[in-house]
Amino acid sequence: MSALVDSPVSVSPVPVPPRPAAKPRGILLVVDDEEGPRMSLKVIFKDTYELLMAEDGVRAIELAQQHDIDVAILDIRMAGMSGIEVLERLRQVRPDMEAIMITAFETTDTIRQALRLRACDYINKPFDIATIRNAVSQAMQRRVLESQVHSSADKVRELLTELQNRSIEEQIAKTHKDIYASILHDINGPLTVVSGFVQLLNKKLGNESRLETEDLEFIKERLRIIERQVVNCIEIQRRYLGFLRRQGNDQTHAGVNQLLHDLEQLVRVHPSLQENEFCLTPLAGDIGVKVNGTDLIQILLNLSVNAFQCTPLPHRVEIGGEVETATLDLTAFKDGPNDRFLNVENMHNVAPLVKLWVSDTGPGIPPEVLPKIFQSYFTTKGPSQGTGLGLNIVQRLIKEGHGALHVHTQRNEGTTFTIYLPGTSLVRESGSAR
Ligand SMILES: Nc1ncnc2c1ncn2[C@@H]1O[C@H](COP(=O)(O)OP(=O)(O)OP(=O)(O)O)[C@@H](O)[C@H]1O
Ligand SMILES: [Mg+2]
Repeated sequence: MSALVDSPVSVSPVPVPPRPAAKPRGILLVVDDEEGPRMSLKVIFKDTYELLMAEDGVRAIELAQQHDIDVAILDIRMAGMSGIEVLERLRQVRPDMEAIMITAFETTDTIRQALRLRACDYINKPFDIATIRNAVSQAMQRRVLESQVHSSADKVRELLTELQNRSIEEQIAKTHKDIYASILHDINGPLTVVSGFVQLLNKKLGNESRLETEDLEFIKERLRIIERQVVNCIEIQRRYLGFLRRQGNDQTHAGVNQLLHDLEQLVRVHPSLQENEFCLTPLAGDIGVKVNGTDLIQILLNLSVNAFQCTPLPHRVEIGGEVETATLDLTAFKDGPNDRFLNVENMHNVAPLVKLWVSDTGPGIPPEVLPKIFQSYFTTKGPSQGTGLGLNIVQRLIKEGHGALHVHTQRNEGTTFTIYLPGTSLVRESGSAR
């Protein structure tokens, strides 16, 4: 079968198609079983593209397996495998390749088949050089565009992955920053006590030339408190470093009343106590709690210090608690202008539960402030008085302990923070049962 083409010498100058970005010259496959038209096409395209010539379907497929073909020109009517069959086989090897069919007397059915196989163009015989050059040039441009779109999509995907990785890294860095800030915040309390007592001891020792027995007792008692505070600091940094290493907390099931006793000792010597009235009532029946003991003391100490600092006027702060022997009815745990709940949906609501509260007779928390109090760095205190981390730490410890928290506040009457934590039967150490 022959195609009538213009003589190559009289080729009219058609703009040279832009070269693909990735490959300097596009690869063009010509599949025709007749030498005449094959040679014509060769003459037309040999200087513009990397040209591959196939005289039948078998050779065409072989070439497609060896080369990343951009565009194929296929004669539909060929002896042996038809152009449609060849295209079908070529699609399996080069699904993205562009195809131009050359038709003579084809039925619409054949053309439909070619379209189904995503032939991008079909050219009737006889064709002129400008038409075929134009068709190939457009097909080549589409390939270039497609590969640019693909590489852009790949770049976008790469960028997205990088962004996701960055955001994870930033998240980790932020967590680290928060944790270091928490260490400083939590250690600040015990260190204030230590520094106060060291000053007191210095004063005492500075004034005395010799020490009486009662002075020695005084010093020993203060040193015991200092020692306890230093142990506390070590515990705090161990807990946070454990968190950083994702080791989790040491879940020793501490006895609540022992912890309340330790807390009372800390509060009694805390500088924020000042002239305020303080009362701590232990549980009527002791119980263990499924959180690290230092964590529980840290929660209650933060709440107590807030309660003392809520007004400079002398007021009363009370710590108390009870054991809940039934699971809680959480339907009543709803936020309101005077109430705020934390971690209700994730708490382990299984009896027995330890319920502990810290209440004050201070000014209360204004409704516009209440929703913000657990945010990190939120404070209504002056810069030298508060970092705004205390309640954020409380919130994290409550969540880690699978507990819940309720704040109830009333303007000019005071505020009560109540915490609920999973309880456990008390492991009594010999001689230390209380
Ligand atoms: N018992 C309370 N009565 C009134 N307001 C309170 C009480 N407890 C907390 N708040 C309010 O919540 C804010 C946040 O408390 P949080 O403990 O997080 O930070 P802070 O006490 O301001 O600073 P920090 O604890 O870092 O020293 C306080 O600044 C205060 O406005
Ligand atoms: Mg605080």
